[in-house]
Amino acid sequence: MTGEPDTNARTDVAIVVSGLIKRYGAVAAVDGLDFSIEAGKLTSILGANGAGKTTTLEIMEGLRTADAGEIRILGMTPKEARSITGVQLQEGTLYEDLSCLETLRFFGRMYGCMVDGAGLLSMVGLEQKGHLRANQLSGGQKRRLQMAIALVNDPEVVILDEPTTGLDPVTRRETWNLISRLKEDGRTVVLTTHYIDEAEALSDWVIIVDRGKVVTQGTPASLVRAGGNTAHVELDVRDPAMVQRLVSLASGRQEGDRFVADTADPAGMVRTLAELVPPEIMASLRIRSRSLEDVFLETAGYQLEAQVPE
Ligand SMILES: Nc1ncnc2c1ncn2[C@@H]1O[C@H](COP(=O)(O)OP(=O)(O)OP(=O)(O)O)[C@@H](O)[C@H]1O
Ligand SMILES: [Mg+2]
Repeated sequence: MTGEPDTNARTDVAIVVSGLIKRYGAVAAVDGLDFSIEAGKLTSILGANGAGKTTTLEIMEGLRTADAGEIRILGMTPKEARSITGVQLQEGTLYEDLSCLETLRFFGRMYGCMVDGAGLLSMVGLEQKGHLRANQLSGGQKRRLQMAIALVNDPEVVILDEPTTGLDPVTRRETWNLISRLKEDGRTVVLTTHYIDEAEALSDWVIIVDRGKVVTQGTPASLVRAGGNTAHVELDVRDPAMVQRLVSLASGRQEGDRFVADTADPAGMVRTLAELVPPEIMASLRIRSRSLEDVFLETAGYQLEAQVPE
């Protein structure tokens, strides 16, 4: 773990991932993962496309076996823990000919439990759609039905692989409320998402993975604070030579025609920039609080370009 030590004591561990390795031919999709997930909390696993998130979750769900290492869920193997685990797959399929209510009853029978289909549909905002077949639902409605399926067995552990991908902004926020409620009910929630604002808003703990390894983890606040910088400054300048000058004089970095810096003293940074840059070549200046997205781009995101040629 990088960054300052987190003061939040993590005591009640629900899931332990140790030395996990999964290879597909020459590709090590999961390359020695070690982390733990606290009970009753929401933990997000973030990473670029292909970082190994779905592979890890599928091992956690008992759908794939690891080449080495193991996952324990409340002391059980993933297969033993299936009855207390609820899963929303990234590429979950639905039985097109079953209605929403029949779908939930079907999955309930698989778990051997009675299902309050109407209650579950209302929870995910599909109360009007119970009699529609899956192939009559929009993409976002299918995602919500898949979340209801994840809850049919009233699971203690809920694993959600990109539950909000493809949802409109309003539905996405409604889904945030639903995910928060899962945690308020005392469930342990494991989430992946490419919406970093979503992870920042919802998570108690964030684990960033890259190429099958943990690169950093912590509470969103501790990750954002790590290194002491609290503000993010971006200055667009109409002179590339000036951007290069600023990089050496004002300790930041170049992103195209933009000078970018993270700082603990935004006022001081702005004064320095005002002294160095003639106003006529200053195009725009933005200052904002650092966010988890900045942390993501610095850790997982910077590897994206390197992955393109693969
Ligand atoms: N069944 C498979 N056969 C071969 N390679 C696979 C298989 N499943 C995954 N991989 C490879 O393993 C790596 C990790 O894939 P994974 O689906 O776990 O990534 P991810 O982090 O979930 O990505 P995304 O954000 O795009 O969903 C990728 O390089 C992928 O091509
Ligand atoms: Mg995935």
